[in-house]
Amino acid sequence: MQYQLIKIKTLYAEEDNLGGLSVIEEGRDFPFNIKRIYYVHGTKGQVIRGNHAHKKLKQLLFCPFGSVKVCLDSGTEKAEVTLDTPEKGLIIMPCLWRSIVYAEDNSVLCVAASECYDEDDYIRDYAEFLEYVSGR
Ligand code: TYD
Repeated sequence: MQYQLIKIKTLYAEEDNLGGLSVIEEGRDFPFNIKRIYYVHGTKGQVIRGNHAHKKLKQLLFCPFGSVKVCLDSGTEKAEVTLDTPEKGLIIMPCLWRSIVYAEDNSVLCVAASECYDEDDYIRDYAEFLEYVSGR
């Protein structure tokens, strides 16, 4: 299945109260150029978003605050990845159905995406997704 969990380089200051600094670099840490960044925030309770696939879009997901569970489905295989520290990143290649469970209030999911927003790139119906991937 075309996804990859990566470790995001994180530098911790010598004094604990100064926290950490995490860095992701184009051309080094993920295999596409970024055209768009968006983030989801302010969720309350256990909520599920996503429930769609993309035809061409490549994405890098990371969760700098809180915890999200990303459930992936290729049509034939399923996988789950939990992003629960700022040091984890998840690269998702096209044609994977994803549902994202926001496990803690106010979890923040950041996404760096290979293309600008295009509703035509979405598949929002699961039956249509299965048909799309079986015909590739
Ligand atoms: P969507 O990608 O469906 O987010 P989620 O799966 O987290 O619910 O987007 C939610 C809404 O926001 C949808 O109406 C499309 C719109 N949207 C944009 O206008 N631009 C964007 O870059 C994104 C990601 C979404």
